[in-house]
Amino acid sequence: MYHVILRVLPVILATGIIACSQSDEGSKLNKIISSNLENMKRESLPGAELARKKCITCHYLDRNIFKVGPPLKGIVGRAPTISGVPFEIWDEKALDQWLQDPTGIKPNTLMAIPGIKSAKERTDIIEYLKQF
Ligand code: HEC
Repeated sequence: MYHVILRVLPVILATGIIACSQSDEGSKLNKIISSNLENMKRESLPGAELARKKCITCHYLDRNIFKVGPPLKGIVGRAPTISGVPFEIWDEKALDQWLQDPTGIKPNTLMAIPGIKSAKERTDIIEYLKQF
């Protein structure tokens, strides 16, 4: 992923500089370019791939729409929408516990996935969730 970024970065920067030098259209282009850069940065995080494999079948990350489970947009730092969990807020620690063993925390949860054993994977996923 990084090598892709390195390859396209100069092109994007050059386009950005040209765009900057041109009035209104330039600033519009600039916005598009910087939001694309943000997306590329986000999608190159190690948690992106993990979330694609393990979460997005059941959750939207980038919109407030229910899928199989509740939307995860802005999840880090907000209160649970689900009942039966002993957390007041989904901070990193609560999310880490939840992802490690959802059925251990809420035996009848519909998020009946095997817990994620690797602490590194859990941290990576949580870091990625913070981007939304
Ligand atoms: C098989 C579908 C499925 C998968 C895969 C899944 N979830 Fe869930 N998730 C659910 C369901 C259903 C709920 C609601 C559970 C309940 O009400 O007990 C839920 C609830 C949650 C909640 C609580 C949300 C809230 O608003 O309180 C979080 C956080 C969460 N999931 C994170 C994740 C993450 C991160 C992943 C990927 C590692 C993931 N889930 C994978 C189905 C899934």
